[in-house]
Amino acid sequence: MNVIVTKDFCETCDVVAKMFFELISAKPDAKLGLATGTTAEEMYPLMVDYFKKGKLDYSKVRTVNLDEYVGIPKTHEQSYRASMDRWLFDSVNIDKENTFVFDAQNENEVPKTIEEFYKRLYEGGNIDLQLLGIGANGHVGFNEANADFLTAGAHKEALTPGTINANARFFDRPEDVPTSAITMGLRDILSAKKIVLAAFGKSKAEAISGLLSDDNITTKNPATFLKLHHNVTVVIDRGLAGLAGYKG
Ligand code: F6R
Repeated sequence: MNVIVTKDFCETCDVVAKMFFELISAKPDAKLGLATGTTAEEMYPLMVDYFKKGKLDYSKVRTVNLDEYVGIPKTHEQSYRASMDRWLFDSVNIDKENTFVFDAQNENEVPKTIEEFYKRLYEGGNIDLQLLGIGANGHVGFNEANADFLTAGAHKEALTPGTINANARFFDRPEDVPTSAITMGLRDILSAKKIVLAAFGKSKAEAISGLLSDDNITTKNPATFLKLHHNVTVVIDRGLAGLAGYKG
């Protein structure tokens, strides 16, 4: 696992955005695996900047997002579709037809959106670069920590109370916070050619420590499954590295 320790979160965003910049510059029809969450949100303006300065052309870029809430419409401002439109897609010259975010407001739409996902995931080659954040419990995508098992493929997942609580800040009323999501499974994530995981904040220290301190894999920290991949880069700032006991 490659680990890049930055001086602060700003530099973490620069490093990750530059990885996408270099990829798209070298391969204009690259397939990007994208994430949402506050970590990813801070990085997208830099990807927009590259476009505005005329340095990047997104017209042939294809994207697949990691996950989406079940139970809220895609027009809801907190849906990951609306967030991606707002943070990136509406500000660059990407063809929205080439972007995919799971779409299942109702339970019965889950199988159809998963079928469409697999078409997008494998059509024309695997994801070139998959962006990941990490939950305090080690979740990647919404593959929540579980004492017994994880699910390999794309699936609907019940969110843990901790994750629901962490997401509550984005919704007006507690009863509005989604309690389930559709997510890529670990097999789907690991099918990317290259993965970059970015994290900041002390709540992530334990999960990052489990990822970097040994070679063990556990369902209790889903991010540890990234140890099975041959090309993963973890980008964390000095503060988080210290809290996670990472010495380099
Ligand atoms: C979002 C996602 C989640 C987040 C994670 C970290 O698409 O897949 O795994 O990356 O919950 O979120 P933040 O950055 O908000 O702490």
